[in-house]
Amino acid sequence: MFQIIRSARRMAATAERLRLRRKRIGFVPTMGALHEGHCSLIRAARAKNDVVIASLFVNPLQFGPHEDFRRYPRPFRKDAQMARAAGADVLFAPSAKELYPEGFQTSVEVEKLGRRWEGASRPGHFRGVATVVALLFEITRPTCAYFGQKDYQQALVIQRLIADLHLPIKMAILPTVREPDGLAMSSRNAYLTADQRRQATVLFEVLRWAQAEIRSGQRQAAPLIEGMRRRLSEAPAARIDYVAIVEPRHLEPVWRLRGRVALLLAVWIGATRLIDNLLVDVR
Ligand code: PAJ
Repeated sequence: MFQIIRSARRMAATAERLRLRRKRIGFVPTMGALHEGHCSLIRAARAKNDVVIASLFVNPLQFGPHEDFRRYPRPFRKDAQMARAAGADVLFAPSAKELYPEGFQTSVEVEKLGRRWEGASRPGHFRGVATVVALLFEITRPTCAYFGQKDYQQALVIQRLIADLHLPIKMAILPTVREPDGLAMSSRNAYLTADQRRQATVLFEVLRWAQAEIRSGQRQAAPLIEGMRRRLSEAPAARIDYVAIVEPRHLEPVWRLRGRVALLLAVWIGATRLIDNLLVDVR
């Protein structure tokens, strides 16, 4: 049976009961407007756990004052159907009042990792993410939590949070699910006009271009970054926020490529900010 739970107390009691019965709980936190990327996480959780909890909460704490919190899509009925079809047993969908009652003032901050790249462009963003995820973990008591590589820095921040707080939670990071033309699926793709949608493929194209360059022997970051920037600027609607080549654990920039690197992009397409990344083995 599938159930929607809105109360944090009821969710916590349900999770606690399941833990006492030694059930493995798989947990997939989301902000809704579900797509195949989210569903792939729910299916992965389904395959490895006795019970799957997905959460749906558009978290005001992780949006900046001029960001899209108000207009973020909220197709609740469709989301509930999709979560259920993908294999969720419980959809935890609290209100903001439920999660952050009057007087709420605690926050969780992953300091260094949370200040780079996305954190630099969106001050306070990862504090909002880490705070809500810590709360959701506490309420849903998962055995294993599932995150997408699409938000690679977010996954690292959560990994750090789990380690630093000694939480008994395993974590899985699953591959980015893409549209047939390569664009990473994202709830925000819905904001794009038809013309912007066509231009948005440039993000994955430049990642693939850099990957091919590395495979054919390029070991210097600077010409890669320059080439990526030049190719991005050929799309008239694109405005670069950052293009980075970093080592994949602490996200520090690298100049000479070795081992494994992460290519990170944040690009505005019109008024929509998109991110993407690729992990590349340097052989
Ligand atoms: P949201 O953007 O809804 O994403 C929920 C989860 O789905 C995240 O782990 C994200 O990385 C993953 N995801 C999104 N698009 C994906 C894709 N194309 N392929 C694979 N996985 C994808 O990320 C958040 O919500 C929030 O910050 C949250 C963690 C829920 C905290 O509020």
